[in-house]
Amino acid sequence: MEGESENGLSEPSTSEVQAEELPRELAEKVDKLKQKCSGLNSLYEADPSALEYVKELASGYFPLEEASTYWSRPSAFLRESSEIERRMDRTLLIVYLKKKFGYESFLEIGCRTDSNFGRVPFVDKVGVDPVAGGNVRLTSDAFFATTTRSFDLVFIDGHHEATQAARDAANALRLLAPNGTLLVHDCKPLFESEAQYPMPAGCVYWNGTVWKAIAHLRTFVDVDVATSNLDWGIAVVRKRPNSNPIHLPNYLDLTWADYERNWVDYLNPLSLDDLDAWLNKPPDPEPPLGPRLLVPAYAAAPCWLPPPVPPLPPSPYFPGVLAPPCPLATLSFANAADLAPAASPSAATK
Ligand SMILES: C[S@@+](CC[C@H](N)C(=O)[O-])C[C@H]1O[C@@H](n2cnc3c(N)ncnc32)[C@H](O)[C@@H]1O
Repeated sequence: MEGESENGLSEPSTSEVQAEELPRELAEKVDKLKQKCSGLNSLYEADPSALEYVKELASGYFPLEEASTYWSRPSAFLRESSEIERRMDRTLLIVYLKKKFGYESFLEIGCRTDSNFGRVPFVDKVGVDPVAGGNVRLTSDAFFATTTRSFDLVFIDGHHEATQAARDAANALRLLAPNGTLLVHDCKPLFESEAQYPMPAGCVYWNGTVWKAIAHLRTFVDVDVATSNLDWGIAVVRKRPNSNPIHLPNYLDLTWADYERNWVDYLNPLSLDDLDAWLNKPPDPEPPLGPRLLVPAYAAAPCWLPPPVPPLPPSPYFPGVLAPPCPLATLSFANAADLAPAASPSAATK
């Protein structure tokens, strides 16, 4: 194996991508991975009408007042979002992905008032928050440490610090179902004052240092990342070969000046239409077979299912589409330390 990268994973070399040069045990794993990836093609049935469907919803949708305020502030850059993107929020992005890929299970990390978790139209949904909202009262670390079930769609919006966001993303990728999608919120800050950790006093729209975790994900060869312009900037992550990986010495050393210069590389921003085309790219049946593809994130996880959440009545806002908050499920509970309100600023208003 070649040297270790900052991801803690071995760098693939040209020779290592040849399956026949691998030890027999590894070569067998590679063969299994190849079969798994070609199997993904048949799983990959994207609904071509999903974008039109959600655009129509968005056109009659009352834009999130806070999101429109957020995007209308003068900023030196990053202001290219379209009318439809300003109307789309995280919930509608989730509705779009659900329709596009026929997703059935959903995990949200960080739920607070359930303003998203209560509205996403999934019967099988798990919301994790140590303080408020959702239906599992745990920190994300405690939840991921005990959970092995898989999810089609994961939305990360918990603690807004770079290493925690990167760890949440890595753990979520481990649980992601084949053809699943990971979303990470708050990754496109417009101002340095809102991209600090910890949260500065009086900060209203706080993104923290989540953007650094996205830059970190962009260095992985076996995940593909794009950032949508809507809401507070939502990264969309798919388990497939990275179409344009970047190299970074250490994501934690990145500064705001780096972000101003390189945000396009760090985030790979895409308009809604380009994102739709990007999502239409099928998983590569023969991805580059570097050792990174053999990390546990790709191991098939045994499936653990929580007690089913009863079907929810239709929402008054979106009949037949969105649902009101569901009650706390009695899944598992944190110890007293986990339940104590976090000293972190993440529980505060953005
Ligand atoms: C920005 S709010 C979530 C907003 C919500 N996702 C939405 O769309 O309306 C962040 C939430 O993350 C929770 N949080 C903070 N640290 C966390 C952790 N380690 N694990 C899980 N959730 C955490 C906070 O309690 C807070 O409720």
